[in-house]
Amino acid sequence: MTEKNPTNWEQHYLDQETPWDKGRPAPGLAAFLKNHPAPTGRVLVPGCGLGHDVRALSAAGGDETEVIGFDLSPTAMKIAGDFAKVGREHFLTGDYFNLPDELHGSFDWIWEHTCFCAINQEDRKTYVEACATALKPGGHLLAVFYLNPYDEEHLPGEGPPHGCSLEELKELFGGSFEISEQWQPDDAYPGREGKELMMILKKR
Ligand SMILES: C[S@@+](CC[C@H](N)C(=O)[O-])C[C@H]1O[C@@H](n2cnc3c(N)ncnc32)[C@H](O)[C@@H]1O
Repeated sequence: MTEKNPTNWEQHYLDQETPWDKGRPAPGLAAFLKNHPAPTGRVLVPGCGLGHDVRALSAAGGDETEVIGFDLSPTAMKIAGDFAKVGREHFLTGDYFNLPDELHGSFDWIWEHTCFCAINQEDRKTYVEACATALKPGGHLLAVFYLNPYDEEHLPGEGPPHGCSLEELKELFGGSFEISEQWQPDDAYPGREGKELMMILKKR
C-alpha cells in the first residue's frame, strides 16, 4: 500500500496500485469450498475489492445462493461487475459502517477476507456491529483473519494491514457471536503461510 494515502482505497484502484489483489480467491476460502458444503442463501462480502472471492462463493453456491460484493470503491465495483457472471453475484458500492437499511438482517452468511485488517483499529467494534446488523439471527460469519501481517518492511503501527490477536478477536466478537470453529487455513498466499486464522462465528 502506498505511503502517502494508504486508506484512500478508491485512489488505489484508480492507480491500479492494489498489492493485496492476487488475481484469485483467498486460498483459505478455495480450500474451504473444496472440503465443505458451500454457504447458501444470501452471502455478503464486505470490502470485496475486485470480487475474486465473490465469484468463488457464487460458483460454489450455485442457484441457491446470491452473493453480494460490497466495497467503498466505485472503481473496484465497476471492475468487479465487468467480469463474466458465474452465478447470482452482484456488486454494490457503499460504506460497511453505514449499511443500507434494506440489507439489515438479510444475510445468512458473511465472508471476511482482508476487510477487517484494512480498517482502522478503532473502528473494529463498528465492524463487528455491522456484521451483526447484516446477518439474520443465527447467521454465520466465515472469516480468514490476517493475524500477523508484519515483516521487516511492514511493522506494527504502520498499517493497513493491521494485525490482531486471537484474544482480541474473542473479546470483540464474543458479545454478538459464538465461535463455532477455528482452524489454520489449509492453504495461503505466498508469504501469509501460518499468519492467518480461519473461523466460523455464529450470530447469537
Ligand atoms: C486490502 S483491500 C482487500 C480487498 C479484497 N478483500 C481482496 O483481498 O482483494 C480492503 C478493501 O476494503 C475496502 N473497504 C475499506 N473500508 C471499507 C468500508 N468501510 N466499507 C466497505 N469497504 C471498505 C477497500 O475499498 C478495499 O477494497
